[in-house]
Amino acid sequence: MQKLLDMISEEVGQAFAAAGYDAALGRTTISNRPDLCEFQCNGAMTGAKQYRKAPFLIAEEVAVRLMAAPESVLASAEAVKPGFLNFRMKEEALAAYLNSERVCAKFGLPEPEKKQRIVLDYGGPNVAKPLHVGHLRSAVIGEALKRMGRYNGHEIIGDIHMGDWGLQMGLVITELRHRSPELPYFDESFAGEYPEEAPFTVSDLEEIYPAASARSKEDEAYYGEAMEATHLLQEKKRGYYALWQKIIEVSVADLRKNYAALDVDFDLWNGESAVNDIIPGMVERIRSAGCAYESNGALVIDVAEESDAKELPPCILLKSDGAALYTTTDLATIQDRMTTIMPDELLYVTDKRQELHFTQVFRAARKTGLVPEHVKLTHIGFGTVNGKDGKPFKTRQGGVMRLETLIADINEEMLKKIRSNEDIPEEEARRTAEQVALAALKYGDLSNQSSKDYIFDMDKFCSFEGDTGPYILYTMVRIKSILHRAAAEAPAAAEGAAGAEPGGASCDGTASCGTGIREAQSPAEKSLQITLARFGEVMQSAWEEKAPHRICSYIYGLSNEFNSFYHGTKILSEADREKRDGWLALLGLALGVLEACISVLGFEAPERM
Ligand code: ARG
Repeated sequence: MQKLLDMISEEVGQAFAAAGYDAALGRTTISNRPDLCEFQCNGAMTGAKQYRKAPFLIAEEVAVRLMAAPESVLASAEAVKPGFLNFRMKEEALAAYLNSERVCAKFGLPEPEKKQRIVLDYGGPNVAKPLHVGHLRSAVIGEALKRMGRYNGHEIIGDIHMGDWGLQMGLVITELRHRSPELPYFDESFAGEYPEEAPFTVSDLEEIYPAASARSKEDEAYYGEAMEATHLLQEKKRGYYALWQKIIEVSVADLRKNYAALDVDFDLWNGESAVNDIIPGMVERIRSAGCAYESNGALVIDVAEESDAKELPPCILLKSDGAALYTTTDLATIQDRMTTIMPDELLYVTDKRQELHFTQVFRAARKTGLVPEHVKLTHIGFGTVNGKDGKPFKTRQGGVMRLETLIADINEEMLKKIRSNEDIPEEEARRTAEQVALAALKYGDLSNQSSKDYIFDMDKFCSFEGDTGPYILYTMVRIKSILHRAAAEAPAAAEGAAGAEPGGASCDGTASCGTGIREAQSPAEKSLQITLARFGEVMQSAWEEKAPHRICSYIYGLSNEFNSFYHGTKILSEADREKRDGWLALLGLALGVLEACISVLGFEAPERM
């Protein structure tokens, strides 16, 4: 389906052209003065200079032509000083648009001109370290982007890219060796099969890593051992490699559980270790192509450019001891993705403090020819999750907030609220609380522009009122309940409303209007209808801008509009059958659109709450 604003812009453009001006001037937007009009076009202002004519005169000529067109979708076109064009849409044209929208697949969202294949690198947890609140954003934003991209018709391959190969692994191995030197993994002469069972649990690991990390900072010999262990692991020393596999096994099982609780899922569970074997070849190629040089024993690539405002340090490919670094594995991962997946774009979602790293990696990838010009490289850097004191979010004791704890806390908070509705049995209350809590958590995060820091405010996120996930769900539950009641009263008609399932239905705009949406009867209904008609445009531009917060603000506005319409309209008690059915159809569309939006944001609505 044509997007609403494109449809109007096209008509306005034709009027500009008929009056002798450039049709492109007809670009129309949603009004920023809803008290004055529904849509506006500033093309006459833009064209005034070019045509050496007062903008108001141009606007008037266009308005007259628009009003004379019998087929126009506009009810009014008005030229206002100094040269704006203000429009209102015909109620019947709007209703017809919505009736096509409700039967089209994806509510008429156009398929992309060119389907993109994109590798989305997000999550990025580090094996053997518990997930903390800092990992929340990468998971939540990345998952939303993945779903947004797919909904828009692209092929998105999500890769968790675990940190499973660096010094942290050497530290864990070293600490284990100090604690249990008798394990066969540390016995040089051991040639048998290593035990099936891991010699530690995930809780052990979570205690071992911080202990090892702390000791390595004080004990130089210990640090040296950990470096050596890392090195030996990377050379795949038999016992170390087998032990490492156990660490991965235990850790990944736990990660899967944690991400599942967030309804976050990856197509590829690769880690930094996956590219270990291709690093030497890659380094050799880069070296022999003359793209890297030695500096203080290290092998580096210059990535500075003349236009840089700040000097960009060279990127280190190999340290003086020959060890690979974070940058090296990222470059090797790029090489691997380019050859095995052949994507059109590589997209990374990490803390924005990694911006310098990605600038270096991207420039090095171009310079060394790993990534050709036509493949896009994008880093989406997000801000920090802060506490109410404006400092990074901590536990009450001042420690790092574990993601598990945070989720348990918010679930508990929500359960209290849901339990206050005594009609809901305990079992259902628990499930619902988890669902609503996840919405609170994700919406609380996603409604902020990704690059900004935000304050984690549990009370605010969990509130059923205001710009929150629970408010959106509450609105949806309200719509569901009206549709259910209607179905109980008169099964056929309500089914027609809820049956606005956008299956593979024909999308030629010839929806049958038997039980369709009718002309808006009130300003509140009309605003709701216009907002519903903007779904395709919002879904598309939110994806283009990689901006989940655009979808959040859209559904917040939509929910507010629905609620004002609902408060001013007696739907179920309406005696006029056609009117009532028309409203039920409108509700069906509103619910469908809200469902599509929250599903790309990564959460779901319960039946009641
Ligand atoms: N493991 C990294 C960290 O915790 C994030 C990985 C992000 N992805 C990447 N390709 N570098 O900082």
